[in-house]
Amino acid sequence: MDARQMKIKAAEAALSHVEDGMRLGIGTGSTAEEFVRLLAEKVAGGMRIEGVPTSERTARLCLELGISLKSLDELPELDLTIDGADEVDAKLRLIKGGGGALLREKIVAAASARMIVIADETKVVDTLGAFKLPIEVNPFGLVATRKAVEKVAARLGLSGDIVVREGGDGPFMTDGGHLILDASFGRIPDPEALASALNFIPGVVEHGLFIGLASLAIIAGPNGARTLSA
Ligand code: 5RP
Repeated sequence: MDARQMKIKAAEAALSHVEDGMRLGIGTGSTAEEFVRLLAEKVAGGMRIEGVPTSERTARLCLELGISLKSLDELPELDLTIDGADEVDAKLRLIKGGGGALLREKIVAAASARMIVIADETKVVDTLGAFKLPIEVNPFGLVATRKAVEKVAARLGLSGDIVVREGGDGPFMTDGGHLILDASFGRIPDPEALASALNFIPGVVEHGLFIGLASLAIIAGPNGARTLSA
């Protein structure tokens, strides 16, 4: 089974949690896109869902495939969000934001009664941090904010490069008009401590540590899908 087939397996398993009439948060990334394609087939077959996308990219794909969308302001309470992740640990703590959508992804997940993560085995880790931690920051005061992140990291015994993410033509801009700092910490032994320290830095809009949000992860490997629960 190749990487794409594993993503499809996880997405298929997630689809069985979607019920007619649900208000659904729809994630971002290549795994979430497999889910969108399968969901579109169900919708074409008569399933009614109300979808709230976590990015402009996901919104475009949903609309192309005939999935009608609402804004989170129209539907501020959702039944379920299905989204990918860059890393998942045994406590269902996640790193997200590899696709740059972490802010909307976290707002949508927090507005949902349940969040299910879909991923392949390569995303499961013992300790978060091998994947660069995305930190969404306001462009104003970028240098000061980066220094503040470095200080917080040092206080927690973390070190590594913290770089502004590049896009095709200059710095990568999020859907909210912010920049992303990618922090190569290597290992984050205490994600809760780092998350709350980052939350106190004024220029940090959001970070990619998702803690206490996912209730189930569907992990696809060469021999099929397994689940991890919180
Ligand atoms: C986007 C995300 C994605 O869910 C994450 O990057 C995983 O993407 P993929 O399924 O392509 O590996 O957080 O901001």
